[in-house]
Amino acid sequence: MQKNILLVHAQPESTSLTRTLVETAKTHLAASGHRVLESDLYAMQWKAVYDADDFPTRRNDERLSFIEESGYAFSTGTQTSDVQQEQAKLLEADAVLFFFPLWWFGFPAILKGWVDRVFAYGLAYGFRDAGNEYRYGDGGFAGKRAMLAVTLGGPSYDYGSRGINGALEEILFPITHGTLFFTGMEVLPTFAIYGAAHITSEEVASAQLALKKRLDGLFTDIPITFRRQNDGDYPDRHQLAAHVAPGVAGILAHVHDAEGFL
Ligand SMILES: Cc1cc2nc3c(=O)[nH]c(=O)nc-3n(C[C@H](O)[C@H](O)[C@H](O)COP(=O)(O)O)c2cc1C
Repeated sequence: MQKNILLVHAQPESTSLTRTLVETAKTHLAASGHRVLESDLYAMQWKAVYDADDFPTRRNDERLSFIEESGYAFSTGTQTSDVQQEQAKLLEADAVLFFFPLWWFGFPAILKGWVDRVFAYGLAYGFRDAGNEYRYGDGGFAGKRAMLAVTLGGPSYDYGSRGINGALEEILFPITHGTLFFTGMEVLPTFAIYGAAHITSEEVASAQLALKKRLDGLFTDIPITFRRQNDGDYPDRHQLAAHVAPGVAGILAHVHDAEGFL
């Protein structure tokens, strides 16, 4: 069945590994009958910084409250047109894929700025103006799937469960859990290519093959088993019940299948 798949990517260099993988994804998804939507953030000269220019019509001219102005601009249709266009793509998408090099253990700034500006109050958070009622598994982007496709300079063993950098899925938890699952998306395990700075052409070819397999499973693979806010594990919507994951602290407590997560 044809699906709409949005590729958001953040690497300006066409010969980079990230961009090579974007091209592979575009070709493969189109050949599989899907409709590909694209946000090439550097080519779009995306404005990364969230500031007062995001609110041409202010509710409060005295003091800049981002949350208040975001909700006001979203509900009154006064957001900037670049943000509106990205939201329209997101709302059309059945799946959203993020392609980026890991920079200082996170998104390149231009991609972080895309999230800051596009994930508005009333849409991505504060959904239905109902406080925190809809989050972590529920929300404006429920029903969509998401996947990170990340290239890394470091070797895989530095990112293993006892690797010096920390485990990759724990490093990316603020994005997969705090950003994507928060808004209601189902997040697939991260697609990662390590040692990307000195990759051989054979390794690029095998990365492309591995990516195609992951794309084929985009709508059938099992997402990361993050615990949903409204499924009973968090009776007060804030903290895990005492009987859930007893003795487990931190990130792993928020995943049903903690072993499969790392
Ligand atoms: C600003 C910057 C920060 C980086 N931070 C990390 C990092 O935190 N961890 C890592 O493994 N590699 C890091 N790298 C290396 C990149 O991840 C690597 O060069 C990139 O994935 C190569 O893929 P590309 O050809 O698509 O850019 C960093 C590179 C730059 C330029």
